[in-house]
Amino acid sequence: MASIALANLKGGCGKSTLALNIAAGLAQRGRVALIDVDPQGALAHWAEWASDISGLSVLSGLDNLHDAKASFDHVVVDCPPSVDWNLTGKVLEAVEMVLLPVIPSPLDLWATHDAASAIHRARRANPDLKAWLVQNQAEKRSALSDAMAKVLDQQPLPLLNTAVRRRAAYRLALLEGKSVYQMGARGREAVIEIESILKEVSVK
Ligand SMILES: Nc1ncnc2c1ncn2[C@@H]1O[C@H](COP(=O)(O)OP(=O)(O)OP(=O)(O)O)[C@@H](O)[C@H]1O
Ligand SMILES: [Mg+2]
Repeated sequence: MASIALANLKGGCGKSTLALNIAAGLAQRGRVALIDVDPQGALAHWAEWASDISGLSVLSGLDNLHDAKASFDHVVVDCPPSVDWNLTGKVLEAVEMVLLPVIPSPLDLWATHDAASAIHRARRANPDLKAWLVQNQAEKRSALSDAMAKVLDQQPLPLLNTAVRRRAAYRLALLEGKSVYQMGARGREAVIEIESILKEVSVK
């Protein structure tokens, strides 16, 4: 059983994209609840027109979290951006791990310091909460400047080795009502990235 939240104060960093694809990856292993606690409801919209992804149920609202932990093999929670950090705080008190997507640009990376403080606060109620930053929309490693690599190294939270690259497949999958796992050859590289994240956080 894994319960994973995708959170960050910063909007547009890839929380929903990674939540949906991580959930689809876990759905290959067991029954998964993907819980959309973002009032914007992006994943709930996607679910309305998504073709059936077997093993994946999309639910809305924090109220579903506790029941889902008891009745599904894995739970993935998509959190809202900044304005609703209270809601995210409640999620962080109830999950085993949180991934914070960051776009590797200084403005996004500096904003993670506030998220790190919120994680420290959540650990008062949930001392075993694991937390990692994960680069999203990354360029090739070789395109990172030395200065950028240094900013990445100075982050207050550990950074996953896996970096999710900017790929058309992530956007196309949404348009087609799929995850990258249903994209065949077009999703291959993206699936490798999602599997690599799951391996790094030790979800089998
Ligand atoms: N790795 C990627 N490659 C290409 N496009 C991406 C990638 N990750 C995210 N996107 C696109 O970037 C946009 C923002 O992503 P997403 O909605 O997942 O972010 P979010 O953190 O959930 O945003 P919000 O804070 O508004 O909830 C979307 O258009 C999404 O399709
Ligand atoms: Mg979102």
